[in-house]
Amino acid sequence: YTYRYVHDQPLLCKNRKPFLVFMVPVAPQETESRAVIRRTWANVSVSGSLNTLTVFFMGVPEEPVSKASTVLLENESRTHMDIVQMNFRDSYQNLTIKTVMMMHWVATHCPEASYVMKVDADIFVNVFYLVRWLKTSSRHEFITGSVITDGRPRRDHNSKWYVSQEQYPEDTFPAYTSGAGYVLSTDLASRITWACQFVPLISLEDVYIGLCLRVLGIRPSYGISLPTLRNLFEIRNLEYDRCTFSRLILVNGFNPSRLLEVWQDFVEGQSRC
Ligand SMILES: *[C@@H]1O[C@H](CO)[C@@H](O)[C@H](O)[C@H]1NC(C)=O
Ligand SMILES: *[C@@H]1O[C@H](CO)[C@@H](O)[C@H](O)[C@H]1NC(C)=O
Repeated sequence: YTYRYVHDQPLLCKNRKPFLVFMVPVAPQETESRAVIRRTWANVSVSGSLNTLTVFFMGVPEEPVSKASTVLLENESRTHMDIVQMNFRDSYQNLTIKTVMMMHWVATHCPEASYVMKVDADIFVNVFYLVRWLKTSSRHEFITGSVITDGRPRRDHNSKWYVSQEQYPEDTFPAYTSGAGYVLSTDLASRITWACQFVPLISLEDVYIGLCLRVLGIRPSYGISLPTLRNLFEIRNLEYDRCTFSRLILVNGFNPSRLLEVWQDFVEGQSRC
């Protein structure tokens, strides 16, 4: 790890043992996303009894930024104490570095947490259902989410997901969980960090974690409810419906204002579903 911390929160788990730590990758300028997440599923006043902790991870801005925005970020970090920033360039291609950094951070600072969830900033997380579901059994070497078993590298140069033969010579990807949101037992975070040393970087961060899991011989579990086999990690966009959402763990495609709007309705009414 050749990168150093610009902002760190080494004491977050010092005096407490969260049940679940949310790790959210964001760009430094995504202030509004962070503000809304703090007011919705990361809100301690609603999820306090659920014992979750949310941490935002970022690199340094791609474009030079004004002194004022640096000061604002410092202020935000001091106020909320939930920002971890490292000095790599915060670009799409560097998301894999960010993901490995998150795994390393949580394994180092919060090893006592039971579970960790990597979740993107545009996700609706039903934290109530998620915690209840995870509490039904204690698991180790466990990772779950929306599992993709038929992934293949795109060899078309114009694709956003382009992977060259040099980067990845095989024709298929091993099973991996969609990067939108996945949950793992915390013991696995340090094992993933270890295994990733042996895997050359590719820019598809979710596939990359799948490659590290393959080194460990661990397959991701399907995030489904029994006995209905409903997929609990809904990575398609889905129109908001309070009672449908009350039986899912995550739904993607929410911008900050929509998340805020939907969350208020959800918290008020989900117990009646
Ligand atoms: C710093 O954060 C505090 C608390 O959120 C806020 O009240 C204050 O206005 C901020 N200061 C600046 C310079 O933005
Ligand atoms: C990733 O971050 C490193 C360190 O800041 C930087 O040198 C590199 O250019 C970045 N890569 C991309 C593709 O942004």
